[in-house]
Amino acid sequence: MKTKILKMLKENENKFVSGKAISEALNISRQAVSKHISHLKDEGYHIESISRRGHCYRSDAVELYNQMELTRPTFKSDLGKELIFLETIDSTNEYLKKNAFKLPHGTVVISDEQTKGKGRLGRVWESQSQTGIWMSILLKPEIPPYDAPKITQIAGAAMVLTLRAFGFDVKIKWPNDLILDKKKVCGVLTEMSAELGEINYVVVGIGVNVHQKNFPDEIRDKATSLSLHTDQMISRKNLILRFFDHFENLYLKFIEEKSLKETIMICKEHSILIGEKVKLITKSSVREVYVEDLDEEGQLVVMNENNEKEKVFYGEVSVRGLYDYVN
Ligand code: BTN
Repeated sequence: MKTKILKMLKENENKFVSGKAISEALNISRQAVSKHISHLKDEGYHIESISRRGHCYRSDAVELYNQMELTRPTFKSDLGKELIFLETIDSTNEYLKKNAFKLPHGTVVISDEQTKGKGRLGRVWESQSQTGIWMSILLKPEIPPYDAPKITQIAGAAMVLTLRAFGFDVKIKWPNDLILDKKKVCGVLTEMSAELGEINYVVVGIGVNVHQKNFPDEIRDKATSLSLHTDQMISRKNLILRFFDHFENLYLKFIEEKSLKETIMICKEHSILIGEKVKLITKSSVREVYVEDLDEEGQLVVMNENNEKEKVFYGEVSVRGLYDYVN
């Protein structure tokens, strides 16, 4: 019924349709109409309701995206208890790094726009206003610094679960990219400050392309957005709130139970690399290898050119598909 109401409103885009007209056309009560419309609003559809005029679907509408909307209704941990929403910033990762020592563990920064969004390997991350999720999480875990890259995989796994729950067939390109229809839809950039074997802080930055309809020439062949794969309205807010729950769950298992098992299971199940030939690229070489597995520590298990098994640790390499994007 909700879908029928939405269809009717969309057919009358930017015009008001009265509650009475909807109730008569669909043969339901006026109360039922109001209830379904309120659910549609919760899902992120921008429907304006004015008494005595009715309801109006605004297709060009911008969803409410602010501090209040993004605040979690409940918490199992400190994740997002301190939430900083910004209209614009150079980079959410930079913001947290600058303020890391005075902000608590679990602080989240979300900006509608980044003017100097950063990708891995010094790349630029396009982050225009109203187009995507640009978010960073500050963590202060008591784990050895060499374990920090596992948090990248936790974030990737949590985002895979999130996007799949919203119907997107995303895959993980180890260690930190999410791929939709062979193009990148999400990237994770983890940065750390540590000394004498102890972590001061970790900043996990996550970028998701949501509403872009096109991309700059340099990345057009490699990047995609969620909106390019659905006619449904996508709510950044709903994605973020769902992501928080998945991330919190996997992160607490890692920290409190010392278990990365579930994260690795998710990463394996949705891996785009396992069973494929890829190029392993380091500063000094490019080699073709066959990806066999992901081990319990999150290392890629590959068969090298001499038919020997090798384990590849994150940070050492870049991986590219031999025949397709996956860059
Ligand atoms: C990559 O795949 O290269 C990583 C991209 C990470 C982008 C996010 S957007 C939020 C956070 N702030 C940044 O400047 N970068 C990360």
